[in-house]
Amino acid sequence: MEKIYLIFLGPPGSGKGTQAQMLSAKAKLPIISTGELLRHEQEKNTNKGKMIKEIIVKGKLVSNKIVEAIINKRLTAKDANKGMIFDGFPRNKNQLRHLTGKLGKNNVYAILVDVSDKEVKRRLGGRRMCACGATYHLKYNPPQKSGICDLCRGKLFIRNDDRPKVIADRLKLYHQQSEPLIDYWLKSKRLIKINGGQNISRVRKDIEKKIRNLGIKL
Ligand code: AP5
Ligand code: MG
Repeated sequence: MEKIYLIFLGPPGSGKGTQAQMLSAKAKLPIISTGELLRHEQEKNTNKGKMIKEIIVKGKLVSNKIVEAIINKRLTAKDANKGMIFDGFPRNKNQLRHLTGKLGKNNVYAILVDVSDKEVKRRLGGRRMCACGATYHLKYNPPQKSGICDLCRGKLFIRNDDRPKVIADRLKLYHQQSEPLIDYWLKSKRLIKINGGQNISRVRKDIEKKIRNLGIKL
């Protein structure tokens, strides 16, 4: 079977991580989430970890060199033999060049989760995370027991970049550096555009339907 690569693109808080996890379970494809991998790195008390933390907490982008090294390593893992789901990469033109250099252009699709800035702020304001990677929302996707992860019973926390000022900076960077990539995916006829403003289950159904329409089995 041919490898398939699905890339989640969209503003911070649009639901990329939420949908990537559900699609990964359905399509049996592993996820590379650069945000998750960088957050694990920042928890280490190394110089690199401290440097990454300083960048993330300000809502800036970590250097292409660091991020691309993470991607290169992850792509060589055994579970990458069927393909991969990318969450949060590529995020600028250099990263896009890096990825197309690695994967070529065939069987690579971008799923744009389109959500307004106003909705992003609503979603990130109520987000709660677990160290295991599970994501909740106080109103839209609450855990069964307040403050506790349904999956691993871990204690939920607020991400250190989910403060209003940092959210505004992340959004600004998205519009400046990541949004221009939409044009590339559109021109290469590899863009799957989804109305991310719907509820989680409707977004999920739309994504699955559009992927099947491309002839990809789920
Ligand atoms: P990253 O972790 O990728 O953050 P992001 O892109 O800002 O996106 P988020 O994870 O905040 O949101 P999401 O779209 O995954 O939404 P979620 O599913 O959680 O990156 C973090 C940082 O790492 C960056 O700022 C940068 O510093 C660095 N970094 C990462 N990748 C990099 C790269 N390639 N290059 C350089 N630096 C990089 O959902 C949000 C909330 O909404 C949740 O509470 C969820 O429950 C809820 N929700 C989800 N869907 C819905 C829905 N349909 N309706 C209602 N609520 C919903
Ligand atoms: Mg995410």
